[in-house]
Amino acid sequence: MSNKNPKTDFIKTALGQRHHEYRFRSLTPVKPILGTSRVIRDGKEVINFCSNDYLGLSSHPKVIERSKEFAENYGAGSGSSRLVSGTLDIHQSLEEKLADTFGLEAVLVFNSGFQANASILSSLADRSSLILADKKCHNSLIQGALLSRADFKRFNHNDLNNLEVLLKTASNKDYNRIWVVSETVFSMDGDLNDIEGLIKLSEKYGALLYSDDAHALGVLGEKGLGLNYRKEGIDLSLGTFGKAFGSFGAFAGCSSETKDYLINFCPGFIYTTALPPAIIGALDAALELIPEMESERETLHSNIQYLIRGLKGLGFKTGDTESQIIPVIIGSEEEAMNLSNYLEENGIWASAIRPPTVEKDASRIRITITLNHKKEELDQLLKALIAWKER
Ligand SMILES: Cc1ncc(COP(=O)(O)O)c(C=O)c1O
Repeated sequence: MSNKNPKTDFIKTALGQRHHEYRFRSLTPVKPILGTSRVIRDGKEVINFCSNDYLGLSSHPKVIERSKEFAENYGAGSGSSRLVSGTLDIHQSLEEKLADTFGLEAVLVFNSGFQANASILSSLADRSSLILADKKCHNSLIQGALLSRADFKRFNHNDLNNLEVLLKTASNKDYNRIWVVSETVFSMDGDLNDIEGLIKLSEKYGALLYSDDAHALGVLGEKGLGLNYRKEGIDLSLGTFGKAFGSFGAFAGCSSETKDYLINFCPGFIYTTALPPAIIGALDAALELIPEMESERETLHSNIQYLIRGLKGLGFKTGDTESQIIPVIIGSEEEAMNLSNYLEENGIWASAIRPPTVEKDASRIRITITLNHKKEELDQLLKALIAWKER
């Protein structure tokens, strides 16, 4: 296709602007070395500090085995959407097993966290509703709020006083319902919300609460079952399977009535082919493994503390992280890119996160620690960062 088509000049302009601002994004394929923290990238072995496969389950033998078994018994695809012929017995039993493990009244599985957030939130609110979301909520939640056409306001990050002001103001208006939306572990900062405080405040003002537990699952909470686990007062609990579950997809934990509502009104559930059997098999096995991985979680948390202490000791800004997501906040896009490139030259892959994903002047290296990282690899990262500071 010609590059000289004036109708597409806007594309060239937008991409040029991205380059100019050091915000251009591109794709680089990698090949994982299974069971390790390493990947081959650009022909070179590097330690991967960007993966959300926090428990290393994507390469766990039981997960792979069950995935193969389900594919062999059920085929490669599910054939249609869940409401047509795509609801296999394995979809139903996975939902029952999830509800049982997480102590939820009902569970509905979705094809990805993005798809779930964007389409659930937009089907649970309408033009007469109000959505109040934390300023650092994931883009999928923002898309859901925008798509709903509800009034949409953001409260300052983790600021319950600011949320209360907005709730108070809203109580004088005629909204049909108000949703409060937040994440238990923020995806770019690794800090936690005050889920108990959000529950209390939502109850006080008669608002509904939507809590995304994507990055807590597998890592935090009793038996690694997340920070929404056993919390009364959450109307929609969202979990994802692409992170610690090591696979793909998402689930909504809710009342049976809400589940029926979503089956009837949520386009992101209705108009899409059901998750394939190989994925359901992987999830079935991961669900059995996660609650049993207490000692592995202890190792992970000790490594997390070790790295946070090390980074702070070197004078790096790591924000308020309390989890396996550790930002090294640099400031400018250019400097964050420089650091990321420097690390890569030294065998470490930690991608730079820049606006619009994070706010201006808060570009960073987002480090994630998984069970596959060895202590020596954390030391290697710290050494490379010292060398970068002293260069
Ligand atoms: C908080 C949060 N919710 C939802 C998602 C989307 O999940 P998925 O990757 O399954 O689409 C992400 C992914 O980055 C996330 O960080």
